[in-house]
Amino acid sequence: MLADALSAPPDARPIGVFDSGLGGLTVLRALIDLLPTSPTIYFGDTGRFPYGPKPADEVLKYSLEISDVLIDRGVKMLVIGCNSATSVALDALATRYEIPVIGVVEPGVRAAAAVTETGRVGVIGTVGTIASGAYQRVARLEGVDLTCAACPGFVEFVESGDVDSDQVHVLAERLLEPVRRADIDTLILGCTHYPLLARTLGDVMGPDVVLVSSADETAFEALRLIGTDRDSAVAIGSHHFITSGDPQVFAELGSRFLGPEVRNVEGWQWS
Ligand code: DGL
Repeated sequence: MLADALSAPPDARPIGVFDSGLGGLTVLRALIDLLPTSPTIYFGDTGRFPYGPKPADEVLKYSLEISDVLIDRGVKMLVIGCNSATSVALDALATRYEIPVIGVVEPGVRAAAAVTETGRVGVIGTVGTIASGAYQRVARLEGVDLTCAACPGFVEFVESGDVDSDQVHVLAERLLEPVRRADIDTLILGCTHYPLLARTLGDVMGPDVVLVSSADETAFEALRLIGTDRDSAVAIGSHHFITSGDPQVFAELGSRFLGPEVRNVEGWQWS
């Protein structure tokens, strides 16, 4: 099978990734690290950010619109890099397109299920993600005892560049109380922005709780589906970015989430 993969002609089509804004760049980071030769297109819907507090039908509509744009650009796989969008749109997108569509919820829960020793797992996410019940549904299938906590306010702190001030600590102490009380040994970071808060979250949860990032697990899922990282004849894949917000701001702030690859930012206007 490995020999087949290595002799297969390279597939130069990009992987499409989208998010409500910049946070999905944490998922793209993991993808690039694992599939360095694959070209990517990232759509950040910064102009309509955030998705977390919005009603499910609105987030579904936005997800369909963005995915159509990425499909028109010829992507070979669609990665929903946003937990809030995955929670309400994964099934609809997977039915709509012929290419593989993956989200961040299932990979995160599967990784937690593999890590936990007690079977007691926590997940933190936006209000929309937790209210959708998506993590709870997957956890039931995986036989995991899940405790959930919505964390309004975390995203705003990360967006403002504050990831470890006293205020963030105090908020984390309060919002994480339900998962701390549940005596979990594993915590899923069910939001694109939370890996940037890992230090604060780790402090509050203590050293006995393992933090699981959906971003890394989603990249492994993409690698499993693609089968090889020999996707292109080039040594390093090219990366293109589209934003419905200000391209210059996207490029500046994007490097906080992704690193130096944020160039080629195209502005997008919703009609
Ligand atoms: N990307 C969103 C998520 O992972 C967080 C930001 C937002 O609320 O749009 O849920």
